[in-house]
Amino acid sequence: MSLRILLLVGVLAATGCSGADILMITMGGTKSHKIPFLELAKGLVPRGHNITFLNGFPADFTLHGLQEVTPSGLVEYIRNYTNWDLLGARMRGDMPLSVWDVFRFPWQVCDATLEDKETLDLLGRKFDLLILDGAFPECALGLVYRLGVPFMYINTVGFYTGMMALAGNPTPYSTTPIFYRPLTDDMSFLERLSNSFFTMFVDALYVPTMLCLQHMVRRHLGPDVPSIWSLGRNVSFILQNGQASVTYPRALLPNVAEIACIHCKPAVPLPKDLEDFIAGAGESGFIYVSMGSSVKAANMPDHLRKLLVQTFARLPYRVLWKYEASPALLTDLPANVKIGRWLPQQDILGHRKLRAFVTHGGLLSMFETVYHGVPVVTMPVFCDHDSNAAKAVTDGYALKLELETLTTEKLIRAIHKVIHDPKYRREAKRRQVLLKDQRSTPLETAIYWTEYVIRHNGAYHLQSPARNMNFLQYYCLDLVLFFLGVVYLIRSLTRLYLNPRIVQLGKEKLH
Ligand SMILES: *[C@@H]1O[C@H](CO)[C@@H](O)[C@H](O)[C@H]1NC(C)=O
Ligand SMILES: *[C@@H]1O[C@H](CO)[C@@H](O)[C@H](O)[C@H]1NC(C)=O
Ligand SMILES: *[C@@H]1O[C@H](CO)[C@@H](O)[C@H](O)[C@H]1NC(C)=O
Repeated sequence: MSLRILLLVGVLAATGCSGADILMITMGGTKSHKIPFLELAKGLVPRGHNITFLNGFPADFTLHGLQEVTPSGLVEYIRNYTNWDLLGARMRGDMPLSVWDVFRFPWQVCDATLEDKETLDLLGRKFDLLILDGAFPECALGLVYRLGVPFMYINTVGFYTGMMALAGNPTPYSTTPIFYRPLTDDMSFLERLSNSFFTMFVDALYVPTMLCLQHMVRRHLGPDVPSIWSLGRNVSFILQNGQASVTYPRALLPNVAEIACIHCKPAVPLPKDLEDFIAGAGESGFIYVSMGSSVKAANMPDHLRKLLVQTFARLPYRVLWKYEASPALLTDLPANVKIGRWLPQQDILGHRKLRAFVTHGGLLSMFETVYHGVPVVTMPVFCDHDSNAAKAVTDGYALKLELETLTTEKLIRAIHKVIHDPKYRREAKRRQVLLKDQRSTPLETAIYWTEYVIRHNGAYHLQSPARNMNFLQYYCLDLVLFFLGVVYLIRSLTRLYLNPRIVQLGKEKLH
């Protein structure tokens, strides 16, 4: 043990605050879901906490105090499920994921995870806190119940409000755009109609898929596991992957804190090969192209790849392109283009000579682009990309293109526009200043609330009773119904009483 760790342990012992054992779980189907968890873990480990992290993507690095558990059933299920060509589907105008695929993922991934001995071994250990992904947490709620400890969420897909709503946060259709549509929080009548329809569609699909999932959970963990809904309502705290200046200003309960950009970092100098490549462009600079980790650029249809290559060849800039294939396979690459299987995205975004970012518009990429103040051309593919794009366009630092109707001309024009119209960079910089103007960093906020929940063994005193109310109760519609009933009753009685015939009969009897 190094002296520093010894000192740390000494300090912790002296303050009476001991390290906690924390289990983090994400069953998100894409690797980006890991990022906020790993950032929080890196912040918690030096404070003496012990982190175990269950996910479907084998670890890329080791950190003393952090143990990643990647059950082979989960890893293999996700690998099978995500061997997709999302770009091709989007270009054909198809739904990138069919309704069946959306329906089957939550319970099939749950089955694959709970079947695995590595997962069940965790039930033999003791934890102080569980931190689950707000996207697909339901399966892990079974583990929460078995371990009998408090839990929190990191709501990785910031625009997905399902778990926030279950915890009692107000999410009215009027101002809460559904995460998979190109809508903002400022909607016309027709947009609100569409938003309500698509939200109800998701809610309707959610019920049967959760019933299947609940069946899986009870099969693996015992028939006494309560309903997924009642377990989900008992969340102690939610770390929300959003921030009013980059997502939307929302009404949040006191057990929610916003931590967008928890992973954002100032740029450091690039490796020499990349720096040399960029320097070769002189003062004209370069653009950066990445479709993120989930889209799998190497699976894209050849006509799209050719379209991109032809576009890049005609640009007066150098182009750094994240593309998961060996350069030897791409014989038609123009001299101004360099590809990389993995590129240090934030160091590139923070580079002085970067002119624009061409992206699929994943949420973390959008946060990074604002953090580094870079204008973007976005081409949404699936999941929340459309709502991320809608927000960035509204904020004025992005131009959005439709993959279905994409042409070389359109892409060239869009890239030139975000570079030469100063509005785009100015708005990116303005959002950057707003994002950074916070009382504490997102990581400090996340650490504070995580330790708060540990200190108090849950944060049940922050829970709102709204979480236990149904729609009728929450809006007092049951009272309205009751009131209407009383009015109706009184009216019927008075009618009966004032009916002339009855009154007449009554008079006759008196005589
Ligand atoms: C930390 O977790 C490991 C498993 O990764 C476990 O063996 C160890 O006992 C834990 N340490 C503490 C101090 O809780
Ligand atoms: C993944 O796909 C292979 C080949 O189709 C299949 O044999 C395997 O059972 C699948 N694994 C899971 C976990 O679904
Ligand atoms: C919430 O979780 C805590 C800790 O596991 C448990 O003691 C409590 O009974 C749960 N409450 C409900 C309503 O499920």
